[in-house]
Amino acid sequence: MDAVNSVIRAKLQSEVPLVNQVGEYIINAGGKRIRPMLAVLFAKAYGYQGTAHHGLAAIIEFIHTATLLHDDVVDESSLRRGRQTANALFGNSAAVLVGDFLYTRSFQMMVELKNMRVMEILADATNVIAEGEVQQLLNMHDPDVTEDRYLQVIRSKTAKLFEAATGLGALVAGASETEIDAAEEYGRSLGAAFQLIDDVLDYSGNAAEIGKNVGDDLREGKPTLPLIYLMRHGTDYQRGLVRQCIEDGGSSRFDEILGAIESSGAIAYSRNLAVQASAQAVHALEGLPESDFKDSLTHLARFSVIRNH
Ligand code: IPE
Ligand code: IPE
Ligand code: MG
Ligand code: MG
Ligand code: MG
Repeated sequence: MDAVNSVIRAKLQSEVPLVNQVGEYIINAGGKRIRPMLAVLFAKAYGYQGTAHHGLAAIIEFIHTATLLHDDVVDESSLRRGRQTANALFGNSAAVLVGDFLYTRSFQMMVELKNMRVMEILADATNVIAEGEVQQLLNMHDPDVTEDRYLQVIRSKTAKLFEAATGLGALVAGASETEIDAAEEYGRSLGAAFQLIDDVLDYSGNAAEIGKNVGDDLREGKPTLPLIYLMRHGTDYQRGLVRQCIEDGGSSRFDEILGAIESSGAIAYSRNLAVQASAQAVHALEGLPESDFKDSLTHLARFSVIRNH
């Protein structure tokens, strides 16, 4: 990961000072670096001895960072990685445009690898992420969004990049098609688990730990699984409350919603779906030869559902 960070640092550079300023601001804030870590672990788990996985992992983190810059503008969020968001500090325009810089820098890095299959995986992934975000936009303020429609969004906006990261790790190591499929299955499942927990933490987390404001989703009128569950299983009063909150957005009734979510079992239900997805990810590792890398992949799948940040 030190080597990956060196690539990230080197490729972040631009002759335009604001690009460096905003880019370094968000990159230096850290983040868990889970996606690049997954690419590196799969490459090593399949015995890769070269260095191309460092560049691939950096590409994945650039794409992720670009989506975060854009996401915080779209979600009107003010806190990320324990700091003010880039949009809050530098304005929406700078955040969007530096996000574009990171996306397009990642395209330049992809082309340098001169591997059509790599480009295909990454082009498809970035396109599906964008589709997922647009699908989610259509779901906004709609209290009738179903669990299926919600799951479709998280598969696109989040799980797809995890799938690309893990598949590319296996691909660069020269793994077989069956092995690449298994790596992708791990990434997809883990990615879904990861977003399910992110959506749980948006209600039950703690801003100091998650480094983001709690309640962003409710404020936006975004129907995530805890609310969808409450719509289905809550009392008539709770249903009415959720419907109104999704339609209107805002955070004035956050505490009331949180209480209802907790007492209805919505958090437990969402966490349980995440645990199942994480178990599916671990299951997908069955064919992987035993190694410390495999152990880390198992650990990361389990960590992703017990994390509080
Ligand atoms: C945040 O991802 C966006 C989601 C898909 C939930 P991370 O939780 O991986 O963010 P960082 O990179 O660690 O800050
Ligand atoms: C994930 O969704 C965003 C992307 C995959 C682009 P969120 O909007 O929930 O992510 P956070 O909570 O702001 O990190
Ligand atoms: Mg967001
Ligand atoms: Mg968002
Ligand atoms: Mg979130």
